[in-house]
Parts: sequence; structure tokens; C-alpha cells
Amino acid sequence: MTILVTGGLGYIGSHTVVELLQNNFQVIIVDDMSNSEKFILDNIEKVAGKRPVFFPFDLKRKELLSQVFDAYEIDGCINFAAYKAVGESQEKPLDYYENNLFSLINVLQEFKTRNISNFIFSSSCTVYGQADEMPIDENTPLKLPESSYGKTKQMGEEILKDFATAYKKKVSLLRYFNPIGSHPTALLGELPIGVPNNLVPYVTQTASGIREKLSVWGNDYPTADGTAIRDYIYVVDLAKAHVKALQKLLNETSETVIDIYNLGTGKGSSVLEVVNAFEIANDVKVPYQICERRAGDITVAYANADKAEKELGWKAETSLEEALRTTWEWQKYLVNRG
Ligand code: UD1
Repeated sequence: MTILVTGGLGYIGSHTVVELLQNNFQVIIVDDMSNSEKFILDNIEKVAGKRPVFFPFDLKRKELLSQVFDAYEIDGCINFAAYKAVGESQEKPLDYYENNLFSLINVLQEFKTRNISNFIFSSSCTVYGQADEMPIDENTPLKLPESSYGKTKQMGEEILKDFATAYKKKVSLLRYFNPIGSHPTALLGELPIGVPNNLVPYVTQTASGIREKLSVWGNDYPTADGTAIRDYIYVVDLAKAHVKALQKLLNETSETVIDIYNLGTGKGSSVLEVVNAFEIANDVKVPYQICERRAGDITVAYANADKAEKELGWKAETSLEEALRTTWEWQKYLVNRG
């Protein structure tokens, strides 16, 4: 089976490519390198013992994409290619809509024309907004996300549902909670560009001395310690869920399938709990200061991931501490690389 992985050199993409290769799938990566570096491809090969086929181009270039489909018999796609910075999406909404939606539609057009099924879409818990009740299951009503980034995820889901219904295709929409951590080999991990927006990369860079202090955005939330709560899911666990979701689609006998799964641990952790867990796991200090709340942040989000366990036989296995330990190993690797 040959799987196209768009954005396969990115953070979640690269970990998923390794899992696919280790499960004997052939992998073709298309990635424009806007948020990655070439050494990630080399490291995928080091970890998996196989080198995926790689094409460096932007998926908005339809003619190049068509050539890939001409050259290879593709059986399915996992679509990671997208911009993902919430704040930036507010300043450049058109860039986000153009990049995240046009690239998606271009791949779907090839699937339609060439009669290919099996499409997995990277969605996000952002589609739920601040849900009224915890934990969040797949039937929790969706709310319009505040950011244009979040809206591209909701629109992407709608496009895929229509695609599956109209053309009788199998699709899986995977709603990630907060992915963290790095590969246990310390050869793959997140490469934040500039100042990280997300909590764990900021914590890691602070512990490393690259940042002076972590800003904890608000300690007046209605939670036990006053800081906001999220569901932090280890990236390798998340990557494994993609393989399970793909195998399920491939085994489905019905023509039209629309699967939706929450991928989280089912456990909420506060910002200060993450900081403490990082300090304990790695025996390092993370200086921090309490600041005002960050605009657009929600109080609490954690998953009910029972559906994925029941239907995919998948559940998160790695503890927060273990995930944070791998993050620190990856940071040390990056520092040693120079
Ligand atoms: C955001 C997006 C989510 C996306 C995820 C990963 C929204 C509402 N959320 O999640 O869709 O999938 O990024 O890219 O669109 N925090 C600090 N200090 C920091 C950084 C973060 O205190 O320097 C706090 C935040 O206030 C928040 C928690 O840590 O409470 C997690 O923040 P972050 O890692 O940015 O993820 P989300 O905002 O949950």
C-alpha cells in the first residue's frame, strides 16, 4: 500500500511517517519545507531504516501534484500540510484559507479524478471551542472557532464530509487535543520557528536558557490552581492512531465512510501541572511569571477518547512525565546539532 503524506516532514507528520514505514506502508511525502528542515528526512530514515520518497513542493502547484499521482499508484492520503499558528492566522486570514483549503482541495480533486479513496484529515479540538461540558466527546456540539486557523479546520471537515458523501469515499477526521513530546530516539521532534506560541516548546526553551522566563497566561481561571487545563497527548501515541485509522478505512467494506475520532488522553492538566511535571521529569528548573490571560484562550478542554479505543483499538499510553522527558532529550539534541 502506498500512502501520500502531505506535510510529512512536519512535527506530527514525521512521527506518523515513521509509524507507517514500520508498518510496511510505502510513503510518499510532499512537503514545501515551510516548517521543517531537510535533516528531518534523514532522521526519518535513521529511525525507520527506510527512506520515504520525498517531493519538495507546495500543494497549491496542481501540475506538480498531478505528476506525483501519474508516477505512483496511491492508495490513500494522510493530510498534515497546513499552517497552524493561531495568532498569525488572525493577521493573515487569507493566507491561511488559501494554503490550508486550496492544498486540501487539490489533493481531493486528484482522488476524485483517479478514483482513489481513504483520506485522513488532521483536525483539532479547536473545532469544539469552549465546550459546555467536559470531557468532550465526538457528539459535543461544534462552535465557531475564534481564529481563522480554527475555521480552516472546521471548513476542512465540512469539505471532507461532502467529498465522502458525493463521491462515495472513505474519510477519517482526527481531532487532536494538544500534541507534545518527541521521538524516543531524540531524532524527531517539533521545530518551532522563532518564539514558540505553544506551552511545551516554550517551557523547553526556557529550561534550556533560550528564553528567560515562561509567561503563564492567567491564574484566575476557575480551575484548582487557577491556570487553564488541556489534554496533552504524546506525539508518538498520536502517530500510531493514524495508522489504526488508516487500517480501519482500508478494511471497511462500505463505499462511503465518515469516521470522526477525538485523539487525547482523557486527562486534563493545568499549565502549572505541566511546568511541575517537566521540572520533575528532567530535574531542571523552569522560571516563570504569572501574566494576564491570553486573548482567545479557553478555560478547559480534555477529551473523551473512548470511541477511538472502541473502534480503533487505540489509546494513549504514555504519561505526561515521559512525554516531557522526550521533549528535553530532543532539545539537547538540537543544541548539540548547533
Ligand atoms: C492551540 C490551538 C489548537 C492547536 C494547538 C497546537 C486554539 C484555541 N488552540 O491550542 O487548535 O491545535 O494550539 O498548535 O486555537 N500557555 C502559557 N504560556 C505560554 C504558552 C501557553 O501559559 O507561553 C498556556 C495557554 O494559555 C494554554 C496552555 O498553555 O492554557 C496551552 O497553550 P498552547 O500550547 O498554545 O495550546 P492551545 O492554546 O490549547
